[in-house]
Amino acid sequence: MVDSTAQRLGRGRLGRIVYDEGRIRERVGEMAAEITLAYEDEEDLLVLGLLKGSFIFLADLVRGLQLPLHVDFLVAASYGSGTVTSGDVQLLYDAEASLKDRPVLIVEDIIDSGTTLKRLIPLLEEREPRSLELCALLHKRMTTLPKEPRWVGFDAPDEFLVGYGLDYSESFRHLPYIASLDQE
Ligand code: IMP
Ligand code: MG
Repeated sequence: MVDSTAQRLGRGRLGRIVYDEGRIRERVGEMAAEITLAYEDEEDLLVLGLLKGSFIFLADLVRGLQLPLHVDFLVAASYGSGTVTSGDVQLLYDAEASLKDRPVLIVEDIIDSGTTLKRLIPLLEEREPRSLELCALLHKRMTTLPKEPRWVGFDAPDEFLVGYGLDYSESFRHLPYIASLDQE
């Protein structure tokens, strides 16, 4: 259970801690070691974070990568009319770096419906990266993607999760652990 101080850290009620700091640190370290091995012969890796949710995960992950690399970010928004997602994806901020002919690793916080990635990946493929791989901290396994992530931190429960970059109406991103959100 999250202590009463943490209940005042954002709007909404926190439930249980699903992944604590130690567990996240250990898993991110393992992923960084695997990614380092996979790209050991590459010299120009581009780590492309999807904002905002990936910012803490990406910051921890890249510090574990023993490789030359560049970091850039994208902000993608899925939007539709009303509450129905149209499946369109809009880039609110595009990376400055060119993807052409370089290995690109997309870093995502959580895969839920997969709507964003289903649209975003073909768009990035058009830029002709040498390779395009996906690394997600959490995967709810609600969907299959045309391109499944090569690295997944945890298979997440079907609950709304916050913390370690994940938000509920922009709250709770700064928590060092991942907690569930109690439904009111
Ligand atoms: P998807 O397009 O449904 O796969 O989800 C895209 C985005 O929705 C993720 O990158 C997150 O920013 C957000 N999201 C999905 N599930 C959760 C959750 O449980 N907590 C917080 N954000 C979520
Ligand atoms: Mg979000």
